[in-house]
Amino acid sequence: MSAWHRPGPGQELANELDVAGEARLYRAMRWFWHPVMYASELTDSPRGAVLLEEPVVLARLAGEVRCFADLCAHRGTALSLGSISGDELVCAYHGWRYGADGRCVAIPQKEDPAVVPARARVPAFRAQERYGLIWAGLDEPRWPLPEVPELESGEWAIVSAGPYRWRCDAARQVENFTDFGHFPWVHPGLLGDPDRPVVPRHQVQADGHVLRYEIVRPEAPNTEDLPVFGNEQAGPPQRRSRYELHLPYTIVLRLGWGGERGMVYFFASQPVAADRCAGYVVIGRNYNTDQPDQVLRDFEDTIFGQDQVVVESQRPERVPFDLADELHLRFDAVAVAYRKAMRGLGLAAS
Ligand code: FES
Ligand SMILES: [Fe+2]
Repeated sequence: MSAWHRPGPGQELANELDVAGEARLYRAMRWFWHPVMYASELTDSPRGAVLLEEPVVLARLAGEVRCFADLCAHRGTALSLGSISGDELVCAYHGWRYGADGRCVAIPQKEDPAVVPARARVPAFRAQERYGLIWAGLDEPRWPLPEVPELESGEWAIVSAGPYRWRCDAARQVENFTDFGHFPWVHPGLLGDPDRPVVPRHQVQADGHVLRYEIVRPEAPNTEDLPVFGNEQAGPPQRRSRYELHLPYTIVLRLGWGGERGMVYFFASQPVAADRCAGYVVIGRNYNTDQPDQVLRDFEDTIFGQDQVVVESQRPERVPFDLADELHLRFDAVAVAYRKAMRGLGLAAS
């Protein structure tokens, strides 16, 4: 049984009944761009990744990022073990060479290596590089990536953190990123104040596959060790957080303190398998531009480490998209909207 279908505790019967639904869901998730690695990780050798349980190989060929099934057409060797020569991907086992479209272009064992059977090819998927990440789409993506001009203007300082590889469903990781109620409990002193646990009122606007909402809350002061926020300015100590949740697993969060200073968090979770994901965080800011990147990375490593313990303990492992399965209160508006929108787009098993 694949991990995508592995039942969680107490879920066996429900999941047995829902294998067809799960398979549909699995297919639906192929129609999105998903991150598979940082662009800096993809240099002059091919590199493997797993997306929706599908092993893929990424390579820079002829100046562009390419994505193929990680499976040589000859004997099924992982192409990610191979190398790049010129504009071709070369299998590590017998040296068959593949071009940018996935077709085998040379078989060195033959007297005429260029005479290649038509079946000698590997499935090619969509791939692109943007926001410092490599993205893959196993089927034609339904929507383009979100626009985040701050990350492309060249004027903001950009820091990446992670990837945060968690043993949970990508939706659990995304939901954690958007959850306001946990800040004082899981991140006291860093993102929340245990003396002020009340979640400010907020409303979620659903706009196709994008959920938008914002929240204004008392500013959590910078810690002395990890001073990462741009809040040293006049005016009320408030932080405005504007969220765009692009279904299924990408979030753009813009923070402001009422002045010129701004910070943008770009977060995307890679659905590796039903119980595995990897979270990529790309942060832009127009202040603290000479602060060493490691300060922000240490901050994110701390926050994500605190979250990981809690989220990996959640049961069921998959977010239950049926609202009746959990207890939702008004301050859980985002979680409710996320479940409804995922269901509405056919991205949740019923
Ligand atoms: S297995 Fe790849 S060339 Fe033989
Ligand atoms: Fe958190």
